[in-house]
Amino acid sequence: MEQTEVTKPETLDDLIKILHQIFSSDSVNVEEVQTIMEAYESNPQEWMKFARFDQYRYTRNLVDDGNGKFNLMILCWGEGHGSSIHDHTNSHCFMKILQGQLKETLFMWPDSKSHGSMKQKSQRVLQDNKCAYISDSIGLHRVENVSHTERACSLHLYSPPFQHCQTFDQRTGHKNPVKLTFWSKYGEKTLHETTASQENN
Ligand code: SIN
Repeated sequence: MEQTEVTKPETLDDLIKILHQIFSSDSVNVEEVQTIMEAYESNPQEWMKFARFDQYRYTRNLVDDGNGKFNLMILCWGEGHGSSIHDHTNSHCFMKILQGQLKETLFMWPDSKSHGSMKQKSQRVLQDNKCAYISDSIGLHRVENVSHTERACSLHLYSPPFQHCQTFDQRTGHKNPVKLTFWSKYGEKTLHETTASQENN
């Protein structure tokens, strides 16, 4: 099988520069983006300034707006924080672990005719530096920091960027539109934030 050539990003700034080059083209090579994000070795000194936690739910902290082609953000997950089951508004979603571990549970889209509980496809625990990928054609997911003692941070890239998604009730498959905002932008706190967190359901 053909291998994707990787220039290893030495720093977060380096990674951002490479991502700008990759996304200057209109098509997205999922394997290339996933490989490059995985190749960056997380260095907390480089991203700590963006990582702001909330006591009650995970936060979304914008790092780079990718010239409108993508956005790159750090999500900060306190102990026990998790998202609802959600979609990705027809965008590509890349999620790299910067610190800690996150459990990802994949679900099938609910069947519009049946109103029962949603079907789980798979589950895995993502470790340091691992980069996962999901899109609406793969399904829906829920992300959780199940640790009671360790916080977690993940680097997310969405392309194209989106401001709304849908969350789903696991028991019924009912969906709910949610507006997504940022807890901080470029290291500065913003006024209001909403996430696809469990408390929104
Ligand atoms: C996720 O994909 O788990 C995070 C959703 C978000 O961007 O808030």
